[in-house]
Amino acid sequence: MLSFGRCRARIPIVKSIAILAGGLALGLAVVSCSSRDGGGVQAASLDGGRIYREQCVRCHGANGEGVAGKHDETLYGEKSVESLSRLIARTMPEDREQKTRPDEARAVAEYLHGAFYSPEARARNHPAKVEFSRLTHRQYRESIADLVGGFRTVRQATRSGGLSAEYFSSEGMNKKKAKALERTDRTVAFDFGEGAPEKGIVADQFSVAWNGSLLAPRTGAYSFRVTTPNGARLYFNTDLAAGDNNSRDDSDARRQAALIDLWVSSEGTVRAGEAEVFLLGGRSYPLRLDFFKFKEKTASVKFEWKPPHGVWQVVPADALSPERSSMTTIVGTPFPPDDSSVGYERGTSISKAWHEATTKAAVEVAGGVVARLDLLTRTDRRSTNRVEALRSFCTDFAERAFEDPSTPGFAPRSWTGTSRMAPHRRPR
Ligand code: HEC
Repeated sequence: MLSFGRCRARIPIVKSIAILAGGLALGLAVVSCSSRDGGGVQAASLDGGRIYREQCVRCHGANGEGVAGKHDETLYGEKSVESLSRLIARTMPEDREQKTRPDEARAVAEYLHGAFYSPEARARNHPAKVEFSRLTHRQYRESIADLVGGFRTVRQATRSGGLSAEYFSSEGMNKKKAKALERTDRTVAFDFGEGAPEKGIVADQFSVAWNGSLLAPRTGAYSFRVTTPNGARLYFNTDLAAGDNNSRDDSDARRQAALIDLWVSSEGTVRAGEAEVFLLGGRSYPLRLDFFKFKEKTASVKFEWKPPHGVWQVVPADALSPERSSMTTIVGTPFPPDDSSVGYERGTSISKAWHEATTKAAVEVAGGVVARLDLLTRTDRRSTNRVEALRSFCTDFAERAFEDPSTPGFAPRSWTGTSRMAPHRRPR
């Protein structure tokens, strides 16, 4: 039996399934209509179907489905034609003194046995349901993240335990005049008071860059908050400093949008910046938190989060990794709600809105991929192998997008979005 219930096909396939499903639904309707009222084995002389319609339908319904207030149970069973006809002759119609004659009972028994009563008849009338499903919104997002994240050039962080930290003495606008210290900080929740973070750093002017990744334990909306009386910027899930080592000054802000921007401090007043992002669980997201003190009286900085269904707290060390990772592509296009049954998300309704959403999402994803082509192909405009690299990237991308889930070796990561820092499907 056809079943796409577990189909892992990706974007473009989904569309063809939608079209296929439309066509097949029509086909099926025709089949089931035509088999519905046929099939009765007729007794030679008596028309069992007619007897049924005349004497039985009012209580049992045209197809034995039952009639409310009369006999609301279905007339389905496993009795043989013989025992059915004896039963009918003895007891039916229920409300009449005069029961069905044995020969009529035999004819009507044969009719209903063949039309809907027997398991065989029912199987014929209701062939096992052919159900198509498309990706749910979440599955779609997971698939896209897998698809773009599956390239050799894309990195995921695996180890947790904090962020890598570089401490600098600064001077004027130069926020990284001299690196004084490098270490791993398990969390970012510091109150330096009026002093310096470490000996050898000028208490008056210093800066810190925390680098690494955030490991999202589950899928959902995360809020982040940075609190400081000084200057701070949080870059999140963007390809950080690709080929740019001088990333701790203002030049970066022009190139990449910060998720939280508290760069301009005001007279040492403590300020908090908040932002919310949707993250897929089990993946890592690059982040950098830039911080500097410039002549304010005190220095402090706190990096907190509120994970889905959680409470505000300092981002814990086990959700932070000192390793860098590449950004994860998260589709932002809004989708219509998925259908659901007994608590499970299902993707069976293929509406116009859904179709439009996948089209918009495809455009969004394509735009993101194009913007990151250098990174994804490890080439740039000047590379001599640029054309070749682009070509092979396109082939690879299309192959993955259309990959047949029944291929041996197709091992997609779990898309339940539960928390596991599973390594990604390795690119070939
Ligand atoms: C007035 C309503 C009424 C009419 C008319 C009627 N039935 Fe029934 N039928 C019932 C009811 C009520 C039962 C359930 C009886 C019971 O459980 O004791 C039943 C039970 C049956 C059963 C047994 C189902 C089983 O699972 O064992 C058969 C077979 C049946 N009817 C066939 C017929 C046939 C054939 C006719 C027409 C000749 C007919 N009935 C006409 C009300 C009706």
